Amino acid sequence: MASPTVTQPVFEHHHSGLSVNTSRPRISWAFQADENTTPDWRQTAYEVEITFHPTSHDPLVFNVTSDRSVLVPWPARPLQPREAANVRVRVAGGPSRTPSSDDAQYSGWSSPATVEAALLDPSEFQAQFITAAQQPTPQGPLRPLRFRKEFNLPVGYTGETCRSRLYITALGLYEVYINGQRVGDEYMAPGWTSYKHRLPYQVHDVAVLLNKTGPNMLAIEAAEGWYAGRLGFNGGKRFRWGDKIGVAAQLEVTHPTSSQRWTLSTDETWRCGLSPVQTSEIYDGEVYDAREEDESWNKVTEQDSAQVPLDGPVVALPRPKATLFSPDMAPVRATEVKPCVSVFQSKSGKTILDFGQNLVGVVRIKSFTPADGAQVELRHAEVMEHGELGTRPLKLAKARCLVTGSGKTIDSWRARFTFFGFRYVQVEGWPSGTPSADDFEALVLHTDMKRRGFFECSNQSVNQLHQNVVWSMRGNFLSIPTDCPQRDERLGWTGDAQVFAPTSAFLYDTMGILGSWLEDLAAEQLADGQKGIPPITVPFALGDNFPNMPQAIWADVAVLMPDDLHRASGDEAILERQFRSMQTWIEQGVDRGANGLWNPDSWQFADWLDPNAPPEDPANGRTDPLLVCNAYLVHTTRVFSQICRRLGKMELADKHKDGADRLLGHFQRHYMTADGHLMSSTQTAIALCITFDLYPPAKSNRTTASSALERLVRTANYHISTGFAGTPVITKALTAAGKPQLAYRMLLKKDCPSWLYPVTMGATTIWERWNSMMPDGTINPGHMTSFNHYALGAVADWLHATVGGISPAAPGWRTIRVRPVPGGNITSTNVRFNGPYGLVACEWQLKNETDFSMKLTVPPNCTAEVTLPCDFRASFLNGVEDGDGEAEKTTIVGSGFHTFKCEFVAGEWPPKRFGPPFLPHPPIDVAE
Ligand code: BGC
Repeated sequence: MASPTVTQPVFEHHHSGLSVNTSRPRISWAFQADENTTPDWRQTAYEVEITFHPTSHDPLVFNVTSDRSVLVPWPARPLQPREAANVRVRVAGGPSRTPSSDDAQYSGWSSPATVEAALLDPSEFQAQFITAAQQPTPQGPLRPLRFRKEFNLPVGYTGETCRSRLYITALGLYEVYINGQRVGDEYMAPGWTSYKHRLPYQVHDVAVLLNKTGPNMLAIEAAEGWYAGRLGFNGGKRFRWGDKIGVAAQLEVTHPTSSQRWTLSTDETWRCGLSPVQTSEIYDGEVYDAREEDESWNKVTEQDSAQVPLDGPVVALPRPKATLFSPDMAPVRATEVKPCVSVFQSKSGKTILDFGQNLVGVVRIKSFTPADGAQVELRHAEVMEHGELGTRPLKLAKARCLVTGSGKTIDSWRARFTFFGFRYVQVEGWPSGTPSADDFEALVLHTDMKRRGFFECSNQSVNQLHQNVVWSMRGNFLSIPTDCPQRDERLGWTGDAQVFAPTSAFLYDTMGILGSWLEDLAAEQLADGQKGIPPITVPFALGDNFPNMPQAIWADVAVLMPDDLHRASGDEAILERQFRSMQTWIEQGVDRGANGLWNPDSWQFADWLDPNAPPEDPANGRTDPLLVCNAYLVHTTRVFSQICRRLGKMELADKHKDGADRLLGHFQRHYMTADGHLMSSTQTAIALCITFDLYPPAKSNRTTASSALERLVRTANYHISTGFAGTPVITKALTAAGKPQLAYRMLLKKDCPSWLYPVTMGATTIWERWNSMMPDGTINPGHMTSFNHYALGAVADWLHATVGGISPAAPGWRTIRVRPVPGGNITSTNVRFNGPYGLVACEWQLKNETDFSMKLTVPPNCTAEVTLPCDFRASFLNGVEDGDGEAEKTTIVGSGFHTFKCEFVAGEWPPKRFGPPFLPHPPIDVAE
């Protein structure tokens, strides 16, 4: 038997290791195992070998007795700004029953990874921010600009071994070229942050692009982006952070032996001119005039052929006050190219492209030759409505591209500084009549997070639902987590991100993107005048008519999301980093009444988009909004107290535990009858109280609650009746209450409102409303109707943990909870998670209705707590006062490959509807 293989180490939560923002990057590695790997393997020690660059230095080896393999401390001296090192790791260990460092066998070395420090101290970023001396369209939308500078490398800096780095950012968005070649593969750089507080820069290794022997051209095209563009609904507002496009770049070439640095930075010697892109706006799209194009603008040429001169003067802008930093999160990239699957005519004869998938990105036109002055227009939409492009949901976003031809062929055209949410594109003015599908493809754009979790089961409709969740996550994790990608919002709504955070952390590694977003949240929340309230969108981009609104569920993200990220990663640093933000929200931000619960007069989004609310009034659902908010408040306060305890802040932990108990007392007095009925008896209210454990422990209370929920669900004929607050918890609550078959019945229901109704309507993403598209093909009349909103996809968390059966038993996935609860007509599932330690996989099958078998993969250095379905107990009813007493049986297993079998009877399927006895039962609509 052998040690597991150690994967290439990674640093902090950084996507590549190039340009980490700390001098002591923590190191993590995972394990790969096969049948020859020692089962039940535990690490007892590790060795980290660090070779500082240049690699002619002797490697330093650090030997540490520890079972930790995730985020271990940097063992060597700190990295200097820009300094790099090669790092590899090997581990010792053995079966957990006989772990001893003496006889431990070392594994082979991992392959080496390079880590390089960023500039670290913002003052190392010395480049000036420059803009055009004459602003072409000062009132906005701002005309994109092209900046450039010709240069030669000095003698001595032309060798192959010179280290060449470009540090670059913009006030707006940029794409950068060296000698006509695009640097990097990023889109929408530098990304969207709270620009007042934090401005990211990117780092590129540009050695291969530099001409060592002759002149070079460093050229940057930049547009207004989120920084200066119109943002917000009802017309929005321009210039939220500034009214001039700016760029700042610092090219550094380091001499290999003397370590002297030659630097070329943006300054007033640069030149600039207008881009042929006339406008490029987040909501309205891009307008491009090929007649103003100069193909060679970014190369060194004898003479410019430009119609529009590129040698205008630039001026320096004041240095932004924001902290410059190199982000951990991966950049936005084109992660997939989707072909156009068909071209068809709309009812009125318009040409429509169908990409077969509602996605977020841009269309690329492979090659076309519009005549001089002729215009080709692309209009994007997510759906067709009664045979025409369904643009009403876009509200005041034009979401179009307009290309004016010059008579010359244009190859590979795409919008450069915007993106769209679309499946369909209407094309007008195509040069040769009707285009063919082959002329177009779609680039799928999003933050290029590492995929982690996968789920599949025997039911194809559920698989489609899961894929829709993944696609909605992809489309809405573009630099920040957004509500939607198409209409005049696309904003970092806090509530959406909060309810979806656990699901997203399973599907992708979100530590970089959400960690950064939380830092923005804290920066804005803690700013003067904010009274400790996180803005409802981060970065805040709504009008002045949106004052600081303390909103439960939305602002609770300040506490709940760091907790979710900690649970996914085991990284306590995120809790430390967000601590002030959490504490300030709980202690100062929440708008309280006299008893500490929410101010009874405050208006709240609460169970936003409950399907029973009128289309025009989505907050007006069935569940008392204050009950929803107060349930959340007790939960959030408890979570905060647990975080205090974990961080060793015991006094605060006790204080807030008492606070939560007191709030719970008020809550129970206020909303519960003595025998466990809720004053607002709805799916959302009961599900929240079960999931957040708000009922008194008396068994009678709990059976009342679970029977009341059962009755509501049966009476609704398994229609969903929850909005943003209730949807993530309803199936969890039914499972906890010992009624998983009811949860499956809801999951598998096909008619509206239900999770699968959109699937029956051909949805390829999660919709904002349960009925964004009505059964007759009419778009919901409500004023906001998106077809790409991930919030209601939060049910996938239950798919992963309960249907598939895996979740972290403790923060960081070192102890894995394996507890599948089969049900419905699902006869097999396959769930996988590439976690911090390696692959967790669980595959179960149910044959002949009762023969349950399961294959489980537990990664090295981990254990799993396994509960088989036959041992499942309703956690809400079990172990409480007067409970049945019989605790759930769990088996603990170590790493390796395991199989399990048991007899399992799932119970009544399909469960009946509760309804008038004199009416026939409605037909059972369950997705097969
Ligand atoms: C957004 C939401 C958001 C909500 C706030 C909407 O317009 O699209 O998803 O959370 O407003 O209530």
